[in-house]
Amino acid sequence: MRRADIGTIAAAPASTPLIRGVGLTVRYGGVHAVREVDFHLDRGEFCGVIGPNGAGKTTLFDVISGHRAVTSGRLEYGDRDISDKSAAWRARHGLRRTFQRQQLFGSISVEENVLAAQDWRGGEGGFLYDLIGSPGRSALREQRRAKVATVLEQCGLAEQRHRRAGTLPIGAARMVELARAVVDDPQALLLDEPTSGLGRSDTALLAEVVQRLRADTGCSVLLIEHDVRFVMENSDRVVVMHLGNKLAEGTPDEVQSNAAVIQAYLG
Ligand SMILES: Nc1ncnc2c1ncn2[C@@H]1O[C@H](COP(=O)(O)OP(=O)(O)OP(=O)(O)O)[C@@H](O)[C@H]1O
Ligand SMILES: [Mg+2]
Repeated sequence: MRRADIGTIAAAPASTPLIRGVGLTVRYGGVHAVREVDFHLDRGEFCGVIGPNGAGKTTLFDVISGHRAVTSGRLEYGDRDISDKSAAWRARHGLRRTFQRQQLFGSISVEENVLAAQDWRGGEGGFLYDLIGSPGRSALREQRRAKVATVLEQCGLAEQRHRRAGTLPIGAARMVELARAVVDDPQALLLDEPTSGLGRSDTALLAEVVQRLRADTGCSVLLIEHDVRFVMENSDRVVVMHLGNKLAEGTPDEVQSNAAVIQAYLG
């Protein structure tokens, strides 16, 4: 049932953006955090969002992942209006995001953290496998463990899989966050400041894992990042936010030479 739903979204015409926001507006009292923003994320696209502090980046991101309701505007996923869908619904349907470190379960292992990210999407087969019994269930369990092992390997976490997540250094903890987000083959991967606190080699590994996932699965990536260089190196298209508005968008080259963008950053 859930997989069929996901199929419907994937089956929308290829020309339809995967995600489309129209007139997205979020107001906190008198403050317009995001004002009448039109936004899209194409299938397979890597889109970066940058902007000075308070520009509205996180608010826009939260609107897309369902962690913040819009004051007005509409959000579509494939050919579906998902404006009223919960964050959990969106995650179950392939919209996956990373969080900061504290979202990990600190007292269980790295491997269990990643397994748990699959669990809540459909357990080990649910009611059907309860009915038909254990052979199907154990095969499914094996499949899921194998997928987790592959993802841990890709994220450079294989040797740390039995370590308690709460004891990891920040770089590895961020990779666990990423592993949790990608283990279920997302349609859109939303990355919230993923390189914050990371050193050079962890940042490079993160970019490599995300780009490989995109090449292998065709998923779209939406990245918010203060590290402008990282955004420019990895994005097909960059959206620049400023004071709640979309100030500019284009290829990294176009955005870097845009006078209004330079002014916003300098100002
Ligand atoms: N919960 C809230 N209540 C009131 N105002 C808020 C709230 N969250 C954000 N804002 C305001 O909305 C505006 C946009 O904030 P947002 O966090 O989306 O910006 P940002 O671009 O992510 O900034 P930063 O780069 O500092 O993370 C800011 O003026 C901020 O003060
Ligand atoms: Mg922010």
